Amino acid sequence: MKELKDWFVPWLTTARKYDPSILDVAWAHPDHARLMLNENPIPPSEKVVQAVADAVRMGNRYPDSMKRLRAKIGAQYDLGPDNVALCNGSSEVIDAMMRVFMQPGDEIIMSDPTFGLFPPRAELCGGKVVQVPVRESDLQYDVDGMLNAINEKTKLILVINPNNPTGVFIDDADLERFCKTGIPLCIDEAYKDYNPEIPSKASLIKEYPHVFLSVTFSKAHGFAGIRFGYVLGTEEMIKAFNTMFLPWNVSLMSMAAAEAIIDNPAEIQAKVAHNNRWMKKFYEAAQGVGLKPYPAHGNYMLIDASMSGRTTAEILAAAIEMEKIYLKKIGKIHGKDGFFRVTPGLDEENEKFLRFLHNYFGK
Ligand SMILES: Cc1ncc(COP(=O)(O)O)c(C=O)c1O
Repeated sequence: MKELKDWFVPWLTTARKYDPSILDVAWAHPDHARLMLNENPIPPSEKVVQAVADAVRMGNRYPDSMKRLRAKIGAQYDLGPDNVALCNGSSEVIDAMMRVFMQPGDEIIMSDPTFGLFPPRAELCGGKVVQVPVRESDLQYDVDGMLNAINEKTKLILVINPNNPTGVFIDDADLERFCKTGIPLCIDEAYKDYNPEIPSKASLIKEYPHVFLSVTFSKAHGFAGIRFGYVLGTEEMIKAFNTMFLPWNVSLMSMAAAEAIIDNPAEIQAKVAHNNRWMKKFYEAAQGVGLKPYPAHGNYMLIDASMSGRTTAEILAAAIEMEKIYLKKIGKIHGKDGFFRVTPGLDEENEKFLRFLHNYFGK
């Protein structure tokens, strides 16, 4: 008789894994500062809590696709309700897009580094991930390298804007070069809201029907645990995503929370202001102790500490030991060890991080 593992689709064992075990560690150590996840440290407002409480009273009913909410979201981009499909956080877009466009053997082009969930979700459909390293000088997308990687098997291109973990925005002209290929292009705007002065790229959808946007409320809105996101695209694109998403995928509570925060933009603005104030301080402090922080446009900062002679593993261990801070492990970039990523927490947690920088690197 075949063993159980021999029944599995082959890519279940061969696909890269996204390791979420740090979450179990973090929840088990509530006295440690969670500066390693790109979370928002500020809990939901009372308005959001009340909206969720009201919705849960109707929790015996299946949710609809909430046209009113889709219309409010669409209007923010000069799009209609049928240009929006709701989901449980944008991880669902990441998963669905692979299944909408890729068959076993097909390829997706993305940068290296990238957000770690993309490669496993592509490989779990039997897809092949083609990663093109970011430029060494400024960690910008290597647009020529990515365009040169296109072949007849390429079914998707991914541009996270600003990129995670590097924090850089792509130039408009470069983004348009990807649009012009006619190959489905995912523009992930998970962190765009931290930069209200920069327009969303949603307008590209009108000119380029192969383009879709992925948006999450996990970051500036602080809904990582509530789970809410959406995809924007042409009506044809949205129908394809809705076919791939499960029906009633988003709970009444998540949708109610989303509507409450959309109706109260001051809550988002306050969260963004807190983040951006601390990002500036982190940047200056890292530079002050001789490290190289990258100008970041999200809620995370990539810091090159390789010049200190310390490895990433040593830095992460020291942060836990000295200040009970979790930082994010970043693999070698261009062969260099010593990169890590940090996300602002609450004031007191951020003070701990500044103290760590000073005491560990500054002496
Ligand atoms: C670029 C990017 N896209 C998507 C996500 C997933 O977000 P969500 O919580 O909405 O699934 C993340 C989370 O860190 C991210 O960095």
